[in-house]
Amino acid sequence: MCGIVGYLGKNDALPALIDGLKRLEYRGYDSSGVALRLTGGIECVKAVGKIANLEKKLGGKERRADLGIAHTRWATHGEANEINAHPHSDCSGKIWLAHNGIIENYKRLKEELEAKGHIFKSQTDTEVIAHLIEDTHEANPFIAMRKALKMLKGAYAIVFIHEDFPEKIMAAKMGSPLVIGLGDGETIIASDISAIISRAREVIYLDDGEVVEIRKNGLKILDVLGAEISKEPRKIDWDSGEAEKKGFPHFMLKEIFEQPEAILNSVRGRIDSEKGEAIFEEFDAFTETARSAREIAIVACGTAMHAGLVGEYMFEEMAGVPSKVDYASEFRYRTPVIGKDTLLLAISQSGETADTLAALREGKKRGATTLGVVNVLGSTIARELDACVHNRIGLEMSVASTKAFTSQTAIMALLSVYFGRQREMTFAKAKDILNELLLIPEKIKKILELSGEIKKIAEKHIKAKNFLYLGRKYNVATALEGALKLKELSYIHAEGMPSGEMKHGSIALIDDDFPTMFICLKDSVYEKNISNMEEIRCRGGRIIAVATEGDEKIKSVAGDVIYVPETIEPLSPILAAIPLQLFAYHMAVLKGLDVDKPRNLAKSVTVE
Ligand code: AGP
Repeated sequence: MCGIVGYLGKNDALPALIDGLKRLEYRGYDSSGVALRLTGGIECVKAVGKIANLEKKLGGKERRADLGIAHTRWATHGEANEINAHPHSDCSGKIWLAHNGIIENYKRLKEELEAKGHIFKSQTDTEVIAHLIEDTHEANPFIAMRKALKMLKGAYAIVFIHEDFPEKIMAAKMGSPLVIGLGDGETIIASDISAIISRAREVIYLDDGEVVEIRKNGLKILDVLGAEISKEPRKIDWDSGEAEKKGFPHFMLKEIFEQPEAILNSVRGRIDSEKGEAIFEEFDAFTETARSAREIAIVACGTAMHAGLVGEYMFEEMAGVPSKVDYASEFRYRTPVIGKDTLLLAISQSGETADTLAALREGKKRGATTLGVVNVLGSTIARELDACVHNRIGLEMSVASTKAFTSQTAIMALLSVYFGRQREMTFAKAKDILNELLLIPEKIKKILELSGEIKKIAEKHIKAKNFLYLGRKYNVATALEGALKLKELSYIHAEGMPSGEMKHGSIALIDDDFPTMFICLKDSVYEKNISNMEEIRCRGGRIIAVATEGDEKIKSVAGDVIYVPETIEPLSPILAAIPLQLFAYHMAVLKGLDVDKPRNLAKSVTVE
């Protein structure tokens, strides 16, 4: 939800903190702040809105410091204003703290502290932590923090500095991500490595319950029991350039155009065409478990859930394994019937989505073997899974997920061959799927050339207030994904659903002001889709169709047609999603909206 950064080192803290915040801005951006340990004490500056507003507020005034913390916010408690922006302090103004997560019992703690005379300035849950530390009356701030943490219920990643201790940062992790970067004479602690990779190549990931005291001459990490531990740094091989736009106007467009290469990276080394096999070394220890699994329970959120829905169809139709995808936020509370012979497959780009993490833990608790597809290396979900496949698509900076969806769907196809070949899938069938998968990147390149045409179609429909997105079979997921993209980017209401479902009510919405985006490819359900399109057209509804190259017939029912190259049905969502990503992108640009940081959203949702 939020992004936090801490800096201690030989160089100037402020530029490092601001640079870190900018790279974390996609996590939340309704307000921000920085607290610096200057010679005269700690100075805190906050601003509402994007980091640029904070920079303006800082006004370029020289503030030399070698210690500081900073925060960019996605509000959970208290509206987005300067008072509620982080960092927050205690009554003495000596303790300054930034937090990512939610303190569930903050109200009770606040009442108890107010009863003791503590004065609160903000409506946030976070400020309670600063007063709790103060209220321990512990001389050693590290010990004070650990005592205060015992009172907290909820999720947190905290960075904390104390005016009287200018040579250290204290931090703690429980549920929300926190990683330490070991640079040259400087240490940066942050919510994720995107804020670190420009200054450090070695990182240490903190685990739940761990606390750390960062000093200039080293780290002191204590585990959940308070025992000092040493953790082996990991090398990061992502280049910081990945966090740049490379000449594209937006990260989203850059990432849309990266999809051919991203999918190649996701499937490279995982296809053995000779044997007609999909290879996942990561699963070697679970081959038998995978072979004997009675069912596959897929858990994910948002776009990842849509990729999981394609996976559900693939695993059942192609591998013959009973499979079911669930919204992770529902899975953990609906008492799922799963057990030792269930494979739980968690899908997450960020690897930090709280709902998916909770569903994974629920599955583990019920005895399931937990496998997963995660993009961010070293993320909490990646580390808690029994085995994890990485997408290898690099950083995805834009809040709207694009290359992660097509990569996740491509990996679902590989998994269906992996599970299928362990069961009844023939060599020939597998070869078909694997060969076609290798042709997908070139086919995507052809669709990307249509960006200008798709922009023109967007211009035609720019005034629409509502959209229906329809598809059948594998492309129900694509319809859901297309609708999500339009909603989160252009703020136009859009509803995705199976085409067959439309006539059971939603068809009442259809009129000339309510366009329909229809995924109608030349596949096993083509004729069914055509009839549904007829039902819309004869009620005066406007239709934009995503169709298979060469399909002339469809022009008779759709006002606009976007053609994609032919492929096999299970892989068609990967191709059909591209025009929908571009359509939503152009709608947002035409409406002058912030494409990479849409309102009210955050890249990884680390609270439930
Ligand atoms: C998609 O564009 C959104 N950013 C959101 O729905 C996202 O897919 C969802 O929050 C899941 O995120 P994850 O893949 O990082 O777990």
